[in-house]
Amino acid sequence: MAAITAQAKPERRHALRSPTLYGLMASGQRQDQGSAHWKRVMVFRHDRGHHGNARSMLSRQSIAAMLSVVMLPTWPGMVRAQLSKRTPMPKLPKKGDFPVSQVRRYLEPGPIVLVSSKWRDATNIMTLGWHTILEFSPSLVGLMISGGNHSHRMIRESRECVVNLPTTALTDTVVGIGNTSGADIDKFAKFDLTAEDASEVDAPLIGECHASFECRLHDDALVEKYNFFIFEVVKAHVAASPKHPETLHYTGDGVFVVSGKVISRRSLFRPEML
Ligand SMILES: Cc1cc2nc3c(=O)[nH]c(=O)nc-3n(C[C@H](O)[C@H](O)[C@H](O)COP(=O)(O)O)c2cc1C
Repeated sequence: MAAITAQAKPERRHALRSPTLYGLMASGQRQDQGSAHWKRVMVFRHDRGHHGNARSMLSRQSIAAMLSVVMLPTWPGMVRAQLSKRTPMPKLPKKGDFPVSQVRRYLEPGPIVLVSSKWRDATNIMTLGWHTILEFSPSLVGLMISGGNHSHRMIRESRECVVNLPTTALTDTVVGIGNTSGADIDKFAKFDLTAEDASEVDAPLIGECHASFECRLHDDALVEKYNFFIFEVVKAHVAASPKHPETLHYTGDGVFVVSGKVISRRSLFRPEML
């Protein structure tokens, strides 16, 4: 942990050299700025994150903002602020039996992505909801690409793809792409999408998407048995805004839920968990 600036009273400095205090301090500054209880203190940066990845705990802008008026409430005031912010415990909902084959309705992670590929000069796109993050660094993602899909062969052979993030503006395109096969049609042409050159892989980016992640096959150990491809993201392209795009999350049966209200509980996290 590195101290960026030190304006606290000497006796307080030692106590503040703790990641936990740092987190509380940052949150207190956000919630109660201007309160009479605040006192000038110091700002820290924690250099190692969860899983040992190097990361900075605050953006440059937020550090700059905090350096201009870095304040800390008294401890009782700060603890009260933390507790009052917590959501009340829900009542125990009454539950019934549910078919195990349909748990996807609750567990599908989303957001829905469009996976573009290229093999032997042909390009293709498929819609995909079954994916998971596996590691920060190297940046690993797992994708379940069913063997019946044309994309499966193309990606297995080319050993690369691009994972593109569509927003609700592309809802009907997402459904259309997921209900047609690249074995029959050129989906870029059919759905009027812009194929852009990637920088690290041959597969094209989809220009209309909010973000595109260029992927190389990292491990094919589970492909044969589970159609599960483990990719390393080798290059990421993301639109500057909006910060939280409206994404689609599939629940089966042709129904999507849309990402909505943004809530933050950053202040309740241990810094190394952020
Ligand atoms: C909302 C939605 C989610 C889908 N998720 C997946 C998925 O996670 N894995 C998969 O293999 N197919 C998934 N599919 C099916 C493929 O997108 C579909 O079979 C597509 O036609 C394959 O195209 P291709 O044959 O050109 O590769 C999904 C389809 C939709 C509509």
